[in-house]
Amino acid sequence: MSDTKIVKLSLFFFVIYLVKSSPPEDPIKCSYNTNLNCTITNSYGTFPDRTICKAAQAVFPTTENELISIVANATREKRKMKIATRFSHSIPKLVCLDDGVQDGLLISTKFLNKILRIDQENMSITVESGVTLRQLISEAGKAGLVLPYTPYWWGITIGGLIGTGAHGSSLWGLGSSVHDYIVQLRIVTPSDAPNNYTKVRILENGSPELNAVRVSLGVLGVVSQVTLKLERVFKRSITLSEREDSKLGEDAATFGRQHEFADFTWYPSQRKVIYRIDDRVPTNTPGNALNDFLGFRSIPSLVLAILRTTEENQESTNDAGGKCLSAKLTTSTLKIGAYGLTNNGIAFTGYPVVGFQNRLQASGTCLDSVEDARITACPWDHKVKGLFVHQTAFSISLSKVKGFIEDVQRLVVLEPRALCVLDLYNGILMRYVTTSNAYLGKQEDALDFDITYYRSKDPMSPRLLEDFLEEIEQLAFFKYGALPHWGKNKNVAFIGAINKYKNVNKFLEVKQSYDQLGLFSSEWTNQVLGLKDGLSIVKEGCALEGLCICSQDIHCAPKKGYFCRPGRIYKDARYR
Ligand SMILES: Cc1cc2nc3c(=O)[nH]c(=O)nc-3n(C[C@H](O)[C@H](O)[C@H](O)COP(=O)(O)OP(=O)(O)OC[C@H]3O[C@@H](n4cnc5c(N)ncnc54)[C@H](O)[C@@H]3O)c2cc1C
Ligand SMILES: *[C@@H]1O[C@H](CO)[C@@H](O)[C@H](O)[C@H]1NC(C)=O
Ligand SMILES: *[C@@H]1O[C@H](CO)[C@@H](O)[C@H](O)[C@H]1NC(C)=O
Ligand SMILES: *[C@@H]1O[C@H](CO)[C@@H](O)[C@H](O)[C@H]1NC(C)=O
Ligand SMILES: *[C@@H]1O[C@H](CO)[C@@H](O)[C@H](O)[C@H]1NC(C)=O
Repeated sequence: MSDTKIVKLSLFFFVIYLVKSSPPEDPIKCSYNTNLNCTITNSYGTFPDRTICKAAQAVFPTTENELISIVANATREKRKMKIATRFSHSIPKLVCLDDGVQDGLLISTKFLNKILRIDQENMSITVESGVTLRQLISEAGKAGLVLPYTPYWWGITIGGLIGTGAHGSSLWGLGSSVHDYIVQLRIVTPSDAPNNYTKVRILENGSPELNAVRVSLGVLGVVSQVTLKLERVFKRSITLSEREDSKLGEDAATFGRQHEFADFTWYPSQRKVIYRIDDRVPTNTPGNALNDFLGFRSIPSLVLAILRTTEENQESTNDAGGKCLSAKLTTSTLKIGAYGLTNNGIAFTGYPVVGFQNRLQASGTCLDSVEDARITACPWDHKVKGLFVHQTAFSISLSKVKGFIEDVQRLVVLEPRALCVLDLYNGILMRYVTTSNAYLGKQEDALDFDITYYRSKDPMSPRLLEDFLEEIEQLAFFKYGALPHWGKNKNVAFIGAINKYKNVNKFLEVKQSYDQLGLFSSEWTNQVLGLKDGLSIVKEGCALEGLCICSQDIHCAPKKGYFCRPGRIYKDARYR
């Protein structure tokens, strides 16, 4: 690798804020100067099957009363509805109305963004559902309160993140999923004429219906307000320690019991893991650390374009060795930069890094910006040439996770370069999640694997060493019974997934009683919920992007050396 490349890659991570950056645009685009004839996309600009999603109209309520009137009118008119958010971070097309729906309505929570109440005595916060995690952390923090565990990216809304079961990492307390901290919630659902076509349901912790609404995929109605249980702000002490991955299989089941905020970042082709040794410490422990994760900072568009072009070239020339070099460079750059941690908000001087929870739990400064220049952006912002990826995320029960990790390690032995592709996106992030009362929540204590990797702009073009990752995904979902993250993944992840949830019938009963006409449902949500066939889209090349599991070579890329053959170590996998 040349020196210029190293300089460019280093730039990627050490951007100084001299330039203005441009925030992600609203995912809803309508006819000029109207809220009519709209399209909606996700933050990556592309859904797994690349459909373009349309809606006749978008509305932006600012109060619960407006929301009630919107849902009532749409219900009276039997219009299909979907709930959208300011950034639309979910990958699957949860937010899409079906093709051919004439009068579909998008209800955006963009302006349902107020903090309503902070209750010091009972330590809780009540927010409108469009409030971002960042706002919540910031406002609660000012009152000396925090959520103990949250997703690591703060650009998501409370309505959206509970809607898909988003989480951080912990086996302690009530676990790492935000929806398990809901003490009260208000949801606006359709209803019948005697009720003026709508009903606001107020659900308290302990209510069985709340267990349906906690993780709802947006099919039960619009959550308008959420009250979450908080704690007094505390301090954490973080040490990120690099080790060989030889004991990872064993450690995976136990490490999370030893450290409250434990997680792993695994680089399988480098045979290395970063263990997060992360625990609460007394509030008088010195330190005012800050987490500004390097991967969530603004990056100059020029750098993003160079990185993307480099990877496209490596892909088109089958340069597996080049990817492994880039991988090492990326991970060592991140390590030198302490992943964006500083001991005092300015500089990193060494571990442990000690600071307040609200300054460490999540980050995402690439959202900061004024609406103008296109000089810098979030790395995945689709209005510049930048990162374009698949994201696969699944959780495997702690009782089985060792076997899965060892299977992945066996694949790496067969082809040591196979998983370098992951390290360009900082490897596999492994986080602890816990059994939830939510009907569509985690069924057991588990380890969640978060994998990001290159996606070609051309759906018919296979990725470098693609068969290894496809085998790993099939291993996870079909041999180890992994549960998919509802807000990530390709179609394959959802095949049969709903059968892994023991209370799915209770969920469907609540759905039936809240939204009898299925106004908030679409073909996609019905497929995911097991109410309709067609999750897997069988056509030429469908296995290339995880739209199907192949049954014939033509579903793969036979001309480019990928056939529908059994996996290397998981013989039931198909694609090689
Ligand atoms: C950079 C990045 C980092 C991420 N980090 C994490 C992480 O650390 N941990 C993790 O678990 N996930 C993570 N995710 C995934 C993310 O948490 C989920 O995709 C989340 O659902 C996105 O929230 P959103 O506000 O963008 O909602 P959307 O994606 O817009 O919506 C999600 C679903 O919720 C529904 N919905 C939204 N608002 C409401 C409402 N008010 N009432 C009812 N339904 C509603 C929508 O209709 C949709 O079905 C990350 C994603 C990205 C892009
Ligand atoms: C929206 O699309 C319809 C049908 O294509 C068209 O008749 C109408 O004029 C459009 N409205 C706006 C505001 O563009
Ligand atoms: C709902 O319909 C009523 C009666 O037609 C109308 O007065 C009201 O403005 C509508 N509300 C919204 C938000 O469209
Ligand atoms: C705290 O909770 C108790 C019991 O639910 C309730 O009676 C009290 O009013 C709450 N306090 C505040 C300030 O809301
Ligand atoms: C329905 O609306 C009418 C007119 O505003 C009102 O009088 C009535 O109480 C409402 N019914 C219900 C069940 O809210």
